[in-house]
Amino acid sequence: MTDQELTFPSDFLWGAATAAYQIEGAASEGGRTPSIWDTFSHTPGKVVAGHTGDVACDHYHRFRDDIKLMADLGLKSYRFSVSWPRVQPGGAGPANQTGLDFYRELVDELLTHGIEPWVTLYHWDLPQPLEDAGGWPARDTAARFADYAQLTHAALGDRVRYWTTLNEPWCSAFLGYGSGAHAPGRSDPADAVRAGHHLMLGHGLAVQAMRAARPDHDFGVTLNLYPVTPQTPDPADADAARRIDALANRFFLDPILRGDYPADLRADLAGITDFGHVHDGDLATIATPLTMVGINYYSRHVVAAPVDDAPAEPYWRAPSCWPGSEQVRFVTRGVPVTDMNWEIDAPGLVETLQRVHREYTDLPLYVTENGSAFVDAVVDGQVHDTDRLAYFDAHLRAAHTAISSGVPLRGYFAWSLMDNYEWAWGYTKRFGMIYVDYDSQLRIPKSSARWYAEVIRRNGLAA
Ligand code: NOJ
Repeated sequence: MTDQELTFPSDFLWGAATAAYQIEGAASEGGRTPSIWDTFSHTPGKVVAGHTGDVACDHYHRFRDDIKLMADLGLKSYRFSVSWPRVQPGGAGPANQTGLDFYRELVDELLTHGIEPWVTLYHWDLPQPLEDAGGWPARDTAARFADYAQLTHAALGDRVRYWTTLNEPWCSAFLGYGSGAHAPGRSDPADAVRAGHHLMLGHGLAVQAMRAARPDHDFGVTLNLYPVTPQTPDPADADAARRIDALANRFFLDPILRGDYPADLRADLAGITDFGHVHDGDLATIATPLTMVGINYYSRHVVAAPVDDAPAEPYWRAPSCWPGSEQVRFVTRGVPVTDMNWEIDAPGLVETLQRVHREYTDLPLYVTENGSAFVDAVVDGQVHDTDRLAYFDAHLRAAHTAISSGVPLRGYFAWSLMDNYEWAWGYTKRFGMIYVDYDSQLRIPKSSARWYAEVIRRNGLAA
């Protein structure tokens, strides 16, 4: 390694990430029962082309081969999620041993290959009966989640040290119960706010339960964070940015890392909720100390004050995602975007990491997801995904910049190990470093995978 290289800390955790519903398939095997995503994806009109996760990447049957591919990449860690309805069908009562056995075998195979397993407990697949009983807007769901976390931790805790409770609770709350773009597809602003609170309550209760059994383990949460930039310095645009920052970032960061909701957020939401769902003691539970914080970073939000003729926006810009701030405009700057139409903004990763460290915590930080969708073509059996490779390269340089500035960033997980089920977009968006042919289930490592393997081998990037 020459002095010219951007070298990462020697124990840097290089990884890749996936989630259960996006890759496993085997939706009705081994005692698994439906989650809200099975119901949603089978409801006509909810997912592009009616795609479902019934088969996905068939990882449930092919996990040993997939772990060989991870080993070929030289991954130090693999972040995956446990399917709640696979290990606790229906979301209450005893564990399903067949489901737990699948994850034990997965973990053992990872350890055999020297890959550190990293568990996410909730990556959006709420058991359907819990939704039928009220879902995340209902307080009892938090207690059910803590039971499930305890049961899963008891089964895997002798082999897994890293535990993430929730993945991107903003999406569960505001896409699931606000805009309805994600399962369960409900659209009520007060329910979205309540869901966000009960997700965080479940997080705190789960950490307490797991820590009681294994105080030596690492516990954290994964938040999807965005720098939010006003289009102009005009005070009206700055206020729009403040509002969206409150809903996207501080709604979760403040309770979890500071023990309270921000005063301005409470004021913005005054017409929607009186926060009566916040019971005495909840905020202390939500602020249960952690040992790490996971950050998913994809893009930046640029916003402006409302104008009368603002066009209706799709998906994550939909007004119904932003209770109390429906009038804010999301601005498109004309910079290069990915196939998701998300602006590519690597400096935003530096800003995000520095902000969390500066304003919230000294805890170790991990980028638990970062990546991009692009249209891939298989040519002569190969996939040259130069755009995706460039995206990873730029964001790893940003990660290095953050570390050099003093941010305790301890690891990076590429999203995703392989192409998979991109939620409401079905299989139409490809985020993988490994190409998946969904007809044959053939896997083809793309150029970005070979490049990432070299980054891991060198523990750095050429300057
Ligand atoms: C966020 C989610 O955690 C993951 O499931 C999703 O596929 C990626 N980001 C890309 O949208």
